Amino acid sequence: MTRRAVVIGVGHYLPERIVPNSEFEKTLDTTDEWIKSRSGIERRHFAAPNQNTSDLAAFAAQKALDMAGLTANDVDAIIVATSTADFTFPSAATMVQEKIGNTTGYAFDVQAVCAGFAFALSNANALIVSEQAGRVLVIGAETFSRIMDWTDRSTCVLFGDGAGAVLLEAQTGAGSTDDRGILSTDLNSDGTYRDLLYVDGGVSTQTTGVLRMQGQEIFKHAVEKLAQTAHRALDKVGLGADDVDWVVPHQANIRIIKSTARKLGVGMDRVVVTVQDHGNTSAASIPLALSVGVARGQIKKGDLIVTEAIGGGLAWGAVVLRW
Ligand code: ACO
Repeated sequence: MTRRAVVIGVGHYLPERIVPNSEFEKTLDTTDEWIKSRSGIERRHFAAPNQNTSDLAAFAAQKALDMAGLTANDVDAIIVATSTADFTFPSAATMVQEKIGNTTGYAFDVQAVCAGFAFALSNANALIVSEQAGRVLVIGAETFSRIMDWTDRSTCVLFGDGAGAVLLEAQTGAGSTDDRGILSTDLNSDGTYRDLLYVDGGVSTQTTGVLRMQGQEIFKHAVEKLAQTAHRALDKVGLGADDVDWVVPHQANIRIIKSTARKLGVGMDRVVVTVQDHGNTSAASIPLALSVGVARGQIKKGDLIVTEAIGGGLAWGAVVLRW
């Protein structure tokens, strides 16, 4: 018998304000056509001035709890993957803990930028498998609109705000890949690529900073490393591309998503795509896509799912799970 971390609830939250590409035409030398053709993005959501990352995260977490028919104190741990926490400290996760009314668990943030949700899922799995938690809320939440350089057309049109959450529960499986739950994870990082994607400020420099990116370089690394990490995660449990029901990729750019799927050997009819509606929501993009995939009726109980993500660091990883 094998202890598995099984998804029993999922939910997401998107801020009310939807910003179509055409809005950038008013302030930047850009067009809806350029943004759509280069990135696949048509619109994104931006948080209201009085909304912060923990607000978005708490809404998504509550929805995941509601789907599972549980309340906040049924959860032992809360992990928030984010690079845009409300404050330097406390963590966004403890703020979510307070907002949803959990008084008995523990909460902490994970920071691996766009790959944050894969890292958080892997950590949650480790807590469950090692019996340090029975149920873990794993949330990806971001307000990247707060770290944009609004004069840089090559970055500010690509990102959006949002949150997604999954609730994991310890269940017993047979120890085979037919088990529901997380089956394998593969995490990587390489700090020598720091300059390809970073925010040029932070606590220790006494500024907030804005996002800086070498887009073409990131593109090349993304396609190569995403396919590689997904293959590695599948290999670890003796599965291949043909076994996969759904690839749920980080939603950064439709061209990256398509190239990675091709490298993986998975047709686009088995890829969940939300980038057109959300833009790149960094650590929120995978749980948002999982939640939307379930709501659309694409992802069903028992499906084999591969998620893969890459972001600043560089940090990248993949998780294989049976829904
Ligand atoms: N509107 C119009 N023109 C633009 C815009 C814009 N919004 N942005 C850049 N351009 C111009 C450039 O200035 C350049 O002009 P030039 O030829 O006169 O110098 C031209 O368009 C081509 O620029 P490229 O950078 O070559 O365009 P490319 O096809 O590479 O697309 C993009 C740029 C969309 C950023 C692409 O490189 C990309 O998606 N890279 C991956 C980056 C990414 O997704 N990062 C997210 C974080 S990491 C992650 O999540 C994977």
